[in-house]
Amino acid sequence: MADLVKPSDEVVNNAYIKDYESLYRDSLEHPDGFWENIAKELFWYKPWDKVLVGKHPYYDWFAGGHTNIVANAIDRWQKTDKKNQLALIWEGQDGKVKQYTYQQLNEEVSRAANALKSLGVKKGDHVSIYMPRIPEQTISMLACAKIGAVHSVVYSGFSVQALKSRIEDAECKIAITADGYHFRDKLVETKKTVDDAVKDLSFVKTVVVVKRTGNPVAFTEGRDIWWEDLVSKQDSICSTEMMDSNDPLFILYTSGSTGKPKGVLHAHGGYMVGTYATSKYVFNLQSDDVYWCAADPGWITGHSYIVYAPFINGVTNLIYEGPPDYPDAGKWWSLIEKYKVSKFYTAPTVVRALMKYGDEIPQKYDLSSLKILGSVGEPINPEAWEWYYKIVGKEKCPIMDTWWQTETGMHIITPIPSLPLKPGSACKPFFGIKADVVDEKGNSVPVNTQGYLVLKKPWPAMLKDVYKDPKKYTDLYWGKIPGTYFTGDFAKKDADGYFWILGRNDDVLKVSGYRFGSAELESAFVEHPSVAEAAVIGKPHEVKGESIKAFVILKVGKQPTDELKTELKQLVRKLIGPIATPDEIEFVTALPKTRSGKIMRRVLKAKELGQPLGDTSTLED
Ligand code: WT7
Repeated sequence: MADLVKPSDEVVNNAYIKDYESLYRDSLEHPDGFWENIAKELFWYKPWDKVLVGKHPYYDWFAGGHTNIVANAIDRWQKTDKKNQLALIWEGQDGKVKQYTYQQLNEEVSRAANALKSLGVKKGDHVSIYMPRIPEQTISMLACAKIGAVHSVVYSGFSVQALKSRIEDAECKIAITADGYHFRDKLVETKKTVDDAVKDLSFVKTVVVVKRTGNPVAFTEGRDIWWEDLVSKQDSICSTEMMDSNDPLFILYTSGSTGKPKGVLHAHGGYMVGTYATSKYVFNLQSDDVYWCAADPGWITGHSYIVYAPFINGVTNLIYEGPPDYPDAGKWWSLIEKYKVSKFYTAPTVVRALMKYGDEIPQKYDLSSLKILGSVGEPINPEAWEWYYKIVGKEKCPIMDTWWQTETGMHIITPIPSLPLKPGSACKPFFGIKADVVDEKGNSVPVNTQGYLVLKKPWPAMLKDVYKDPKKYTDLYWGKIPGTYFTGDFAKKDADGYFWILGRNDDVLKVSGYRFGSAELESAFVEHPSVAEAAVIGKPHEVKGESIKAFVILKVGKQPTDELKTELKQLVRKLIGPIATPDEIEFVTALPKTRSGKIMRRVLKAKELGQPLGDTSTLED
């Protein structure tokens, strides 16, 4: 494949932005002006006094402005013809379809918002959402935002402990869930997980349950209530709460290199402007687009680029409940054909998994509606890039390899359609973003040299804080190299200014795009009575990107058996979730440690991969 893949004239002619370089230069010279012009495309109850104020590293975007992200995602369309356009098309794994125009979505969200109010939920209250990929998941999130409540969504692939610690940390008085859902042919009992999670959390007053599968569930009198009973009787009109631009919108927990997952806090105004601008320019969104981001709303990709940005842009948004290869490996391609999807956004792990089934499968479907393809979550290797480009996009759809994080809220390093692409590179910083690759002291490293990826200016959708743990916010993100935002990724920059993301530089793993901390996985292992100590590393994996390998030291007298390996795998599934199932467990008698007793996972990894061990001067033995 050519080093540089140039966009066709058609792509460039249709693009909002035809010349990246000049607008980029301009946006760095006048960042406030750039963001202000975008914010002016949106609705504000009261305009901002200043685009950006702050005392480093705390920043207020659109300070003094009043808005609500839902006023832009839903309300502002109600007085236009768009109210009759499909806002949301949902298809279940069982083939059930639900469709909502912008008007109907407004009515549903308003009913759900009134339902929350009837339960006593007020502005600033926290609501936990633990749901499968069904319309009510998206509707609940929008309903919270509409009344100024703060949602804390937990992905349905997490299990009891993970859910419990998140509900506990965010002190959610209300949880919304479903009876269950089918993942392939397996019934997943979501309500049961919630029951177990909130059993000892007396502050959880109400559990709202959507009926998805009709499987029997236990009902706690006075606490549990069916969504249908609660929501259907509500009024379909509800006024949207006027929020300060910097009022909290949501908390989303994400794994880091140390300890427990962190509650990443995002606010209405800046997040709204940042996700709107990036989705508009990166996917070149048009009002008649059928847009499909195949992530789950339970992750940041879903928050930003399913639940909020597509509606703010007024497109038709597709959500499909099931996985890509069930009942067969053509399922997702068939949906692109059926709904004439024009913008499709998925993860490299999906591309690699579907690539393995061969070219014939996508070739059976009419994918000619596609205009732009997206990739997110981990580096996309050039082979997968090429397959996606040639076999799925027929060499006419540019691939937007978007680099960003839960913390950044919005795309940070990303192509736009008119920019020549380099397969495997996330390309260039978005407008207004100042990114660099530096050494430990913060000095830029030479071209084509690996270093730390950092951001040198604030951006609108940046996290506001780490919930209840400001020290983590200031130290982990802004304290490593003072004055700059530390991303935790390695990268290099080439002579053309293209960024190449080279993976994490901390103990964070990316398994099928899911983010885990080594320490978080290790603490699950040591819950087992036979385990004395554990160390977890990520190993390169052909489809998943990384796989989980654990080194386990048993307590004296315990036998290293295959049964124990199975038990340990089950324990991790139970404590964290099926998405965290370890691929490999090896029983060992010692672990490489520093003299101060910290496990040197880097050394374990190098040894496992047969690579040079690097600097081992701090190694104890
Ligand atoms: C980490 C953030 C942001 C949405 C999903 C992930 C990795 C993300 C890319 C990409 C290479 C990527 C980074 C980043 N990552 N996108 N296009 N190329 N790596 O969000 O779970 O917060 O994970 O995902 O390592 O730091 P997240």
